Amino acid sequence: MTRILHVSDLHLEDGFPGVPWKSFANKRLVGLANLRLLRRRLFAQARQKVDALADFAREQGVDLVVCTGDYTALGTDAEIAYARRVIEPLTHAPQGFFTVPGNHDVYLQDAVRAGWFEKHFGEFLRTDLPEYAVDGPWPQVWLSVDGLALIGVNSARPNPNPTLSNGRIPDAQLDALARILDDERVRDRFIIIATHYAPRLANGQPDRPHHGLENADALLEISCAVQRGVIVHGHVHRRYHVWVAESHLPLCCAGSTTHEGREGLWVFDVEEHRAVATPGRWDQLRYILEPDQAFEIFA
Ligand SMILES: [Fe+2]
Repeated sequence: MTRILHVSDLHLEDGFPGVPWKSFANKRLVGLANLRLLRRRLFAQARQKVDALADFAREQGVDLVVCTGDYTALGTDAEIAYARRVIEPLTHAPQGFFTVPGNHDVYLQDAVRAGWFEKHFGEFLRTDLPEYAVDGPWPQVWLSVDGLALIGVNSARPNPNPTLSNGRIPDAQLDALARILDDERVRDRFIIIATHYAPRLANGQPDRPHHGLENADALLEISCAVQRGVIVHGHVHRRYHVWVAESHLPLCCAGSTTHEGREGLWVFDVEEHRAVATPGRWDQLRYILEPDQAFEIFA
């Protein structure tokens, strides 16, 4: 059995020492005001929770950790460096740490141009099938765990307009994903497709256009090629899972694993003939599983 822990939207932040003021002459000023007014309180314990998460992973015998992005608040170089330091204990799972960025990690063009996410998280961005990498390392594919294929598609992009936080998987990545799912080295495995944005909300409906995944329908259609697997994501700060008519795979949203009062996570136990998803939550000082709310992905 392989046990996978899925977390998301950690939103770590340690103030902005040394960040030049010109970095705020844009959408970050709105983001900073929002952070000071509201977000900072909601994520005040984020660092302690990530430490507790690493304890939880160890105690629960987690083999592999998957994080679906949004490590930061405003995607500055200093924040990404800080987040990378904080998550270090989480990256020690025996089979590794698999990740995709969130929109807050590529908040504005300056972050993308400078490659801050790649600079600090580059060691996790590798693919076992480089022939399909069409957009930097994306889609990234890990085949290192027996019986499992992890596929990350990057749906995060800068949104300079303060009213927008939507995403899109570039068409070239989607085309590559379709070919990956048809590859004989992949198709018989249990497949975890990870991306930041939610293809559907908890009620099975698409997210609002200014917040959602533009080409969610195309992703779901391509995912129909998968026999056994799950789509994991974050961005919506509520933990949920939903089965939708457009895909054979359940969608599992970890929500935000550190958001005060809404902390969520998923644990997937994958065996050859069975896979079970168990949600987890924060319980004052530690994370706990909720086995009474577990469901079978296939059996
Ligand atoms: Fe997000």
